[in-house]
Amino acid sequence: MDTSSGQPFLDALKGRPVRPLPLWLMRQAGRYLPEYRATRSQAGDFLTLCYTPKLAAEVTLQPIRRFAFDAAIIFSDILLVPQALGLGLKFVENEGPHVEAVEAAGGLARLSLAGMETRLEPVYAAIAAVKAALPRGVSLIGFAGAPWTIATYMVGARGGADIKAAKLWTYQDPTTFARLMDLVVEATALHLVNQARAGADALQLFDTWAGELSDDGFTRWSLEPTRAIVERVRKAFPTIPIIGFPRGAGARLADYAQYTGVDAVSLDSTVSLDWARQAVPSRLALQGNLDPLLLVAGGDAMRRSAEQICAGFADRHAVFNLGHGILPETPIPHVEDLVAAVRGARP
Ligand code: CP3
Repeated sequence: MDTSSGQPFLDALKGRPVRPLPLWLMRQAGRYLPEYRATRSQAGDFLTLCYTPKLAAEVTLQPIRRFAFDAAIIFSDILLVPQALGLGLKFVENEGPHVEAVEAAGGLARLSLAGMETRLEPVYAAIAAVKAALPRGVSLIGFAGAPWTIATYMVGARGGADIKAAKLWTYQDPTTFARLMDLVVEATALHLVNQARAGADALQLFDTWAGELSDDGFTRWSLEPTRAIVERVRKAFPTIPIIGFPRGAGARLADYAQYTGVDAVSLDSTVSLDWARQAVPSRLALQGNLDPLLLVAGGDAMRRSAEQICAGFADRHAVFNLGHGILPETPIPHVEDLVAAVRGARP
């Protein structure tokens, strides 16, 4: 009996070792594409682009049209959640995001779940629009930042760039920090469920700054909140695949895979696939992990590495991706070469 869904990306996440590997790239919609730059300048600024469903849907579809990837990821940003909770958000040219910081306990009072879902309505409208326009066989990914990563921006304004603020808070006042995290867990679970309801076929949680946590901190601020979110999403959508990306987790990836309940782990470029095949239980899918800088470099080095990754997944169910987001200086022909290499790799 053929049990395939007709979507190679979803089939791979659900346990089928699809070959050639399904493929998409983190940050596949972005500044390396001239058509993205055109739509962004039509919008005027990044946040307007995120909040205008028609334009967000358009930039989500651009990389699908150009490269025929197996999955689209909704064009949005992880920092829309703290903004929807009541914090100011700006994107400063050449500097990245600035979130209005929550200063210790007093700042928590400014945050509220009421109104969050209404503020995020344009994201759900964009998902519905993309879903209606996607070619058959292409899946749609909804996403959110994991609570630790979101908290690094809520506390330190610039996230990983000033990670000390959030880490100090976890050491100086873990009880209050836990209250902040509980609120973000709640908000994130709601946002993911709403994306699934709007039509997302799979969900990814980005824990970009997980690698900055101490061993104990990783357990408390990455593993536990992630598990709580997975449990909540599962109550509403028992079978939707959830991918976790604990960037920089190193050997703790094994605990992440065991404990959080995710269906797949996305691997950063430092992870050895030989190690991951042993450390990650075989019920989970693997995703990754070409170095985004190799995609900038291109040529034989990139092709060899892509083929090694395809071979490195061996008989696992897996999805080809980068180890982190695509860089703005990436030449488009290199992406075309990568797609050809992955599609042509021998099983
Ligand atoms: O194509 C896609 O992957 C979907 C869209 C997407 C964006 N951000 C769009 C974006 C996704 C999945 C994200 C996630 C995100 N945003 C993360 C987690 C993943 C990661 O990369 O670690 C983080 C930490 C953020 C926060 C954020 N947003 C930063 C640090 C920056 C500035 C860095 C940069 O590349 O300029 C952004 C801006 C941002 N988010 C851009 C895009 C396309 C660039 C904005 C522009 O057009 O100028």
